[in-house]
Amino acid sequence: MPAKTGKAIFLKSFPQGLPAKDHFVSRSFEAPAPADGEVQLRIVWMSVDPYMRGRMRPDIKSYIPPFSLDAPLDGGAVGQVIESRHPSFAAGDYAVGFSGGWREYATVAGAGLQKVDPGMAPLSAYLGVLGMPGFTAWAGLNEIIKPKAGETVFVSGAAGAVGSLVCQLAKLKGCRVVASAGSKEKCDWLTREGGADVALNYRDYKNATELTKALAAAAPKGVDGYFENVGGMHLEAALNCIAFGGRIALCGMISMYNNTEPEPGPPNLVNMIGRGVMAQGFIISNYLPLAPKFAFEVAPLLDQGKIKFRESVYEGLEKAPDAFIGLFKGENFGKAVVRVGPDRI
Ligand SMILES: NC(=O)c1ccc[n+]([C@@H]2O[C@H](COP(=O)([O-])OP(=O)(O)OC[C@H]3O[C@@H](n4cnc5c(N)ncnc54)[C@H](OP(=O)(O)O)[C@@H]3O)[C@@H](O)[C@H]2O)c1
Repeated sequence: MPAKTGKAIFLKSFPQGLPAKDHFVSRSFEAPAPADGEVQLRIVWMSVDPYMRGRMRPDIKSYIPPFSLDAPLDGGAVGQVIESRHPSFAAGDYAVGFSGGWREYATVAGAGLQKVDPGMAPLSAYLGVLGMPGFTAWAGLNEIIKPKAGETVFVSGAAGAVGSLVCQLAKLKGCRVVASAGSKEKCDWLTREGGADVALNYRDYKNATELTKALAAAAPKGVDGYFENVGGMHLEAALNCIAFGGRIALCGMISMYNNTEPEPGPPNLVNMIGRGVMAQGFIISNYLPLAPKFAFEVAPLLDQGKIKFRESVYEGLEKAPDAFIGLFKGENFGKAVVRVGPDRI
């Protein structure tokens, strides 16, 4: 089978502050015929994720290398196999991987792919609730916070891909769940369907003092577990309300990803000492051996309707920059995904 040429999205320049559409450009890109061990894919869905902003900062050393201006952007994607030179895949199969996004055709290592069943869940769900963000929610909650029934869990970024599953899993464990999100519509969904007992619209609070007051009222016995997705005033409020023996899963700090100057840390870290608080940062790729356990637990919950998920769907590869920029403006509700091609052709 020959190389396949299609469109791909490249970075034109590295953004300073909030990315804008003119930082991105669409160009022709050739996915080569696969070599031994590789698979050539027609991309069906691609993911936009907050961590990609970190890959647009070549000045900062990170756990993942920065994007190059000379290659397409990259990220999680679900594709259909055109040609396989890997024994686990055949033409027509669907597969998800951490690479292959931001383009119409991709040639990737078969070792990094996982076959997915389009009959079990919508293909896009393998980028969200059944994919990397879902696994992140499950791992941060179960491996770091380890909540017990009756405890209070506070979740920031609660209407996003990760946060919305954290809320529901914590609720299923018998916790009181306090969520924070950026609109009334999101907060209403969180209390109606998303597992939250109380949802705070953080845009109603001007600073950490105001958010602390609201959180203290929503968590009268204190916060036993804080799932951190946002940083800034959310972390400060959580540290003000954290209970003795509290656990904090440091998953992300999206409010800081577009900062051009370093932001001062919370002034109340000292609370962690007297209250015996444990805070642990984590990167989900370090938990990969637990992925089968995650799928074994969460896929049936989804199938039984015990957990719900939402998606913001952007139609067409050219919309990928909008989808990505929207992450930082709260324009997405649940997982933001881009439909690059039809599920079936
Ligand atoms: N550690 C890991 O391995 C790992 C893996 C995946 C994700 N993460 C992190 O987890 C967090 C959530 O990821 P996700 O995939 O769930 O993202 P997502 O679905 O894009 O949700 C992010 C949400 O964050 C909110 N947000 C954006 N800017 C904000 C700000 N300045 N202040 C408060 N909220 C803001 C937005 O909703 P609102 O309307 O509520 O503002 C947005 O919907 C991110 O920090 C991400 O980097 C970490």
